[in-house]
Amino acid sequence: MKILMISPECAPFSKVGGLADMVSSLSKQFALRGHDVRIFTPYYSILKRDGVDFEKALPFMGVHMGLGIEEYCSVWRAPLGKADCYFVEFNRYFHRPTIYGGDDNAARFAFMCRAALEFCKACAWVPDVIHCHDWTTGYIPLYLNTTLIHTPVGRAATVFTIHNMQHQGVFSPDALDYAGLPRAVYRADNCEHFGALNLMKGAIYNSTKLSTVSPTYAKEIQTSQYGCGLDGVMRFKAGDLVGIVNGIDPEEWNPATDKYIAKNYSAADISGKAECKRDLQRLMGLDEDASMPIFGVVSRLYEQKGLDMLAQIAHALVNNMKVQIVLLGSGEYWMEDSFRHLAEANPGRIACKIGYDNALSHKIEAGSDFFLMPSRFEPCGLNQIYSMVYGTVPIVRATGGLEDTVRGYSALDNTGDGFKFYDATASALYNTIGWACSVWYDRPSDISVLRKNGMAKDFTWSRSADEYERLYGWAVEQRKGAF
Ligand code: ADP
Ligand code: GLC
Repeated sequence: MKILMISPECAPFSKVGGLADMVSSLSKQFALRGHDVRIFTPYYSILKRDGVDFEKALPFMGVHMGLGIEEYCSVWRAPLGKADCYFVEFNRYFHRPTIYGGDDNAARFAFMCRAALEFCKACAWVPDVIHCHDWTTGYIPLYLNTTLIHTPVGRAATVFTIHNMQHQGVFSPDALDYAGLPRAVYRADNCEHFGALNLMKGAIYNSTKLSTVSPTYAKEIQTSQYGCGLDGVMRFKAGDLVGIVNGIDPEEWNPATDKYIAKNYSAADISGKAECKRDLQRLMGLDEDASMPIFGVVSRLYEQKGLDMLAQIAHALVNNMKVQIVLLGSGEYWMEDSFRHLAEANPGRIACKIGYDNALSHKIEAGSDFFLMPSRFEPCGLNQIYSMVYGTVPIVRATGGLEDTVRGYSALDNTGDGFKFYDATASALYNTIGWACSVWYDRPSDISVLRKNGMAKDFTWSRSADEYERLYGWAVEQRKGAF
């Protein structure tokens, strides 16, 4: 199949969160399977280019926006495994210190989407499926059902993956004019939602098929608790929706080959993990004590992730239990500040680094004993998966992909690969960490079993890529029916 992935992020070039990892690793997997895969994404000035050869694919491309505006850009190309990644260079929109910064996101991503379709035309390459990711790509299915419907690319099937229902791309309907979309789409059964343009809603109505990144999240977004106001639309489109858990990229996340960690190890010989723990304690200024469990966190610091609950209890945790906490993250200023203060007040026991640091995220996965994800919602979550692969026992709130990927510990028959709790409260998190801590000190052999169980699981893309292939097949068949 010819597959076009359109995404605002793609690892290792540009990344804010798991979306970047997912798009990159799924594309690599499809290319390995022999599909013709092209990824289309912006050429940000902050792109990571280390050791990768970029070549100019199209030195000059005109993009027809609305209001009679023609923008001129160029397109770069770089290999990503056996897939090709194309980057649209347009400094007015992408020469910025951040990926999502700015109050012109409606225009920036309309341009990205329109350029992706123009690119197909310029290369005379017609995809069978266009796989769109989250609201920034929400314009694509709208174009394909309106202004471009009678062009070759307009026949492509669209698959829209919801990675996070909380960010919907809500703007004034005036954004449609620059995008070059007809006002006729601004209806409640299309992209209008409570008096505003809602790109996520438009994509949900107009895509051929929908997916989200875990079966549990697929059910959750049909409820008012998790649907962020679009639960009714999700119930209406439920017949076109599937939940597929993300796989991971073993070239990037594998303790046996990881170039960032102090010593490599594997399920067959986990001894190197102790060295990784020592290294992490030394690096982060924690007491060098092998007997004390480290609870690690690598996360964006936003309400979704529930780490404000950890900030509430962290002081009590290290005072009442023999534990250490290490956190790497960035996000809301007050949360960053809370963790800075906690680290200052508890030297040797709590350490934090505020910022984004890929190498340190690997060291935390390898050097920690437990990994905390008390998310209020979590569409899939990758860090609990990386943790299991690294023999680090996840402690998660049972929601979304955390519910689907982690099997809760049972002391009765010593099964499971992590600890789960249900209430999104600081006390539930405190008690679960207490539970894990007591198992660490009183039943160490159970911890070894949990580790082994996690490491034995298969999180490669093979099964999930099969499911996406099936979904693409259904989408292509269904789209054919539209012509
Ligand atoms: P989300 O996409 O909601 O942030 P995921 O668990 O799916 O959550 O993916 C998060 C990804 O971003 C992981 O690869 C994680 O290691 C990475 N990450 C998050 N914050 C940081 C950070 N401060 N430094 C390095 N990597 C980070
Ligand atoms: C989003 C979600 C996260 C998911 C990631 C990749 O950022 O918050 O749960 O793992 O997308 O699908």
